[in-house]
Amino acid sequence: MQPATACASSGLTIPWLRRCSSLRVKCSTSQRAHCASTSTADTAEPIEPIEPIDPIETDPEPDPEPFKLKPLPYPFNALEPHMSKETVEYHWERHHRGHVDSLNAIIQGTEFAEMELENMVLTSYNEGNPLPFFVHASQVWNHDFFWETMKPGGGGNPSNVLKYLIERDFGSLDELAKEIQNAALTQFGSGWVWLAYKAHRLGVGNDINPRPSKKDKRLVVVKTPNAVSPLVWDYYPLLAIDVWEHAYYMDYENRRGDYVSVFLDKLISWDVVSDRLKNAMFRASKREKMEKREMLLDKMKEARLRVKAVDLRPTPKARPKMKRRQY
Ligand SMILES: [Fe+2]
Repeated sequence: MQPATACASSGLTIPWLRRCSSLRVKCSTSQRAHCASTSTADTAEPIEPIEPIDPIETDPEPDPEPFKLKPLPYPFNALEPHMSKETVEYHWERHHRGHVDSLNAIIQGTEFAEMELENMVLTSYNEGNPLPFFVHASQVWNHDFFWETMKPGGGGNPSNVLKYLIERDFGSLDELAKEIQNAALTQFGSGWVWLAYKAHRLGVGNDINPRPSKKDKRLVVVKTPNAVSPLVWDYYPLLAIDVWEHAYYMDYENRRGDYVSVFLDKLISWDVVSDRLKNAMFRASKREKMEKREMLLDKMKEARLRVKAVDLRPTPKARPKMKRRQY
C-alpha cells in the first residue's frame, strides 16, 4: 500500500503517485519524471484513510509552584515616606518570596499542594506540634495579610461597626493604639501583633478556654512569636503588624515603637479592617448557628436513644387474673 503523498508542485494530496499526471496538475517535467519513475500505481490499491490516533492521556505534571507569590497591592514606593521603597522591595522580594519558594519546595507532589493556604496553616500547626513547613505556610499567609492591611495615604479613623466595637472593647482609638504599642514592645524577638475578633468557642481543641465566655464576641489585641497567627486559635485576624526587624530596621533602626505609631497613623487601611470585621462577624455567626444546631441534634439523638432504652425494658408480666369466687 502506498502512502499518501503531496504533489510538490500543486500541494494536493494524491492517493498514489501515478494519479498525479491524470489530475493534470501543474507538475514540472522533472517532477512528472519522478512520479513516473517511482509510481507503482497501476496495481496499487486506494489508500485507506488512516484514523487519527488519540493522544495518550497522561497525568499532568505537578505544578512546581502550587503557591504563587501574591503581587503587592501597590508599587514598591507607594508607602513612602513612611515605609521606604527599599524596605518594601527587600521585604517582599526576599523574605516573602523566600517563604513561598521554600513552601513550594517542601509540598510539591504531596497532598498539601492541593490545599488552600488557610487550611494548610491550620493543618500544619498540628495543634501545637507544627509540621516542618508550618513556618513557611503561615508566613506566606501572614505577609499576604500584612501587605493588604496597608495603603498609600492610610491612617485616619475607623467607621461604623468597627468604631463602635473599638470604643466598647478598648474605650477609644487611642487606648487601642496603646494596647497595640504595648504588645509590639513586649513581643520578645521576632513576631507579629494583631487585632482580632474573638468569637464564641465551642469545642475548639487549640483554645485555652473552649467554652463560651464574656470575653467572646469581642475585639482583642494579641501578639504571636515567629510565624504564628491567631488563626491557629480560631480567632478572626483583622489587622497585622509585622514586628520582625526586616519590616522596619532600614527605616527606623531599632525604634520599633516609632514604626508601630507610623503604621497606625499613616499606613493602616481601616476600610480593609472594617471589611474583615464584617466578614468575621458573618462567619462567626453562621458557625455559631451551625454548632448550636449540631448540639441540639446530638441532644435529640441522645433523648431518642434514652426513650428507646426505656421501651426495650421487659414489660412486667401481667398479673394472673384471679378467679372470681362463686358463692
Ligand atoms: Fe516579614
